[in-house]
Amino acid sequence: MIAVSDLLKHYPDSSSPIIDQLSLNVIAGQSVSIQGASGCGKSTLLALLAGFEQSSGGTIVIAGHALERLSQEAADSFRMHHLGVIFQQFNLLDCFNVWDNVAFTARLKGNYNASRQQTLLNNLGLADRHKAPVSMLSGGEQQRVAIARALNHLPDVVLADEPTGNLDEQTSDIVSQLLFNYCQEQGAALVVVTHSSDVARRAQTQYRLHQGRLAQE
Ligand SMILES: Nc1ncnc2c1ncn2[C@@H]1O[C@H](COP(=O)(O)OP(=O)(O)OP(=O)(O)O)[C@@H](O)[C@H]1O
Ligand SMILES: [Mg+2]
Repeated sequence: MIAVSDLLKHYPDSSSPIIDQLSLNVIAGQSVSIQGASGCGKSTLLALLAGFEQSSGGTIVIAGHALERLSQEAADSFRMHHLGVIFQQFNLLDCFNVWDNVAFTARLKGNYNASRQQTLLNNLGLADRHKAPVSMLSGGEQQRVAIARALNHLPDVVLADEPTGNLDEQTSDIVSQLLFNYCQEQGAALVVVTHSSDVARRAQTQYRLHQGRLAQE
C-alpha cells in the first residue's frame, strides 16, 4: 500500500538532508509507528507521504500512485480518495462546526453517512459537541475532531502525526485503540508518528527516525 524507496529531502538552508535515503513499506492492514527526537523530520516525512512536500529524490508509491508524477490537481484527488491525514496542528476549518468539519471529506468524496459519523463521534467522546464551532473547543477536543475527520471517509491509508499529543492518558488510550482498530478492521495501512511509547507499542512494526533513516526497534 505504501512503498518508499531511497527517499531524500533537503531543506535549502540545511547542510545535511532531513530525510536521507529512507525506505519504508507498509502493506494493507499493517500499522507502523515512528518515534524520534523533536526536529528529526517525522512531520516532514508524513508531509512527503501525503504529497504536501516535494521530495529531493527517491520514490513514493501509495495505492498505486507515484507521488512525484502527480500534478497539484491529481495530488488533491489522490488525497481525497486514499488518505486520512491527522495533522500535528489539526488544520480544522474554523468556519465550520464539529459535524461539518468531520463530514467535509466524506461529502466531497460522496460516501457521507450520517449514522456512521454519529457513531464515530460518540466513540470519540464528542456526542454532545456536534454543533460547537471548532474554535470553541479545547485542544484535546479539536484533536479528536481531526481524528474523526480523517477516518470518516474510510481512507485506505491513515497518516497520523502525534494523534494523542493533547490528550490525557485515559482518552489517549481510547482514541489510539479506535485508530488502530479502524485500520485493522478496514484493512487500511497506518503510519503513526508519536512521542508516546504506549501508542508506539500498539503498532505491528515500530521504527525510530534518526539521521534521516528509519531503524526498526
Ligand atoms: N519548510 C521548511 N523549510 C525549512 N526547514 C524546515 C521546513 N519544515 C521543517 N523544517 C525543519 O526540518 C526539521 C524537521 O522538522 P519536523 O517538523 O519534520 O520535525 P519533527 O520530527 O516532526 O519534530 P516534532 O517532534 O517537534 O514535531 C526542523 O529542524 C525544521 O525546522
Ligand atoms: Mg512534528
